[in-house]
Amino acid sequence: MSFLSATLNRVKPSPTIAMSTKAGELKAAGQDIISLSAGEPDFDTPQNIKDAAVAAIAAGKTKYTAPDGMIELKQAICAKFKRENDLDYQTNQITVGTGGKQVLYNALMATMNPGDEVLIPAPYWVSYPDMVLLAGGTPVIAEASMQTGYKLTPDQLEAAITPKTKWLIFNSPSNPTGAGYTWDELKALTDVLLRHPHVWVMTDDMYEHLVFDDFKFCTPAQVEPQLYERTLTVNGVSKAYAMTGWRIGYAGGPAHLIKAMGKIQSQSTSNPCTISQWAAVEALNGPQDYIAENNVAFKRRRDLVVGLLNEAQGVTCPTPEGAFYVYPSIADCIGKTSAKGTKIVDDEAFATALLEETGIAVVFGAAFGLSPNFRISYATSDAALVDACTRIQTFCAALK
Ligand SMILES: Cc1ncc(COP(=O)(O)O)c(C=O)c1O
Repeated sequence: MSFLSATLNRVKPSPTIAMSTKAGELKAAGQDIISLSAGEPDFDTPQNIKDAAVAAIAAGKTKYTAPDGMIELKQAICAKFKRENDLDYQTNQITVGTGGKQVLYNALMATMNPGDEVLIPAPYWVSYPDMVLLAGGTPVIAEASMQTGYKLTPDQLEAAITPKTKWLIFNSPSNPTGAGYTWDELKALTDVLLRHPHVWVMTDDMYEHLVFDDFKFCTPAQVEPQLYERTLTVNGVSKAYAMTGWRIGYAGGPAHLIKAMGKIQSQSTSNPCTISQWAAVEALNGPQDYIAENNVAFKRRRDLVVGLLNEAQGVTCPTPEGAFYVYPSIADCIGKTSAKGTKIVDDEAFATALLEETGIAVVFGAAFGLSPNFRISYATSDAALVDACTRIQTFCAALK
């Protein structure tokens, strides 16, 4: 019998980390590398939030809190759900974890039984399928295509549901595509779910505030109140408030599910960092104007990157509604050979050759379940984006 758990055989190491490790090695060897693989805003955490954390430390608010979050933060989260999403939650319907990632993991750990299926639209955030596997469930992938803006259609959803489907994981705006569902598009999906009362919705609203043009964010329990009793609405402060390192995520949902998730957290990590919880109270209750200011920069960068990538030969890049990612197709590059002789057999070969030959690190589409594509995070300076996209254009122009 092996020393390591057999559970580990079910999951694979993160491909996003593999790419950034390779980029780091090349950089250490003195190469000029631009990494467009990071999934976090390049802005600093706002000063009022940092000040709240410092004040918490000075006031001695440095002890354990309730395992699934302190009451002051749960109240701020209830107010946020009401103010921004028109959702009514009481504090016993709220859980706070070490990032949205832990909240999603707790929810799966609290609900998966052998044979349970979790429906995941692709392209998906890399962690969903592996979290389902770790929790003992079976991920079922439903592929959305570029032709539908990387959004699942109601027919696809209907066809993918089986008697074993326990959850649909829904993510809008999406990592990796930036695709955001409009109210009508989401309503068409929730109509399908109404016909299947055994399916619950785990909605990952992490990129709620990062939306552009006149796109209006909406979330499943808001669009279809009849789903409220079987929806877990997950969110967090990482992306909207540039607080990725503070590790605070949260969810609202039915009290019995929230209690079950709290049980898992109380026997694993206990409460998320107390100081970060006080910072999150300030993030949610304090001024919100920098979100719009940051979005001006993100929108400018999105337009810059989409424009430059569409000028690259063999690349087709749709304009996403939100987040800080683009997910261009490289279907027309497959089968060609790079300037230094690499055969582009798939998107992993494309990304590897792009990194080795031009110094640009992106994440290949297979990591997110839809190929042939790659993901760019444009949460970096305009100058770096222009440089990177120009090198991608040169790389693509040389493909024979
Ligand atoms: C779609 C999505 N969900 C959840 C998370 C996790 O965020 P955090 O754990 O920082 O709250 C991320 C982070 O990259 C993400 O992209």
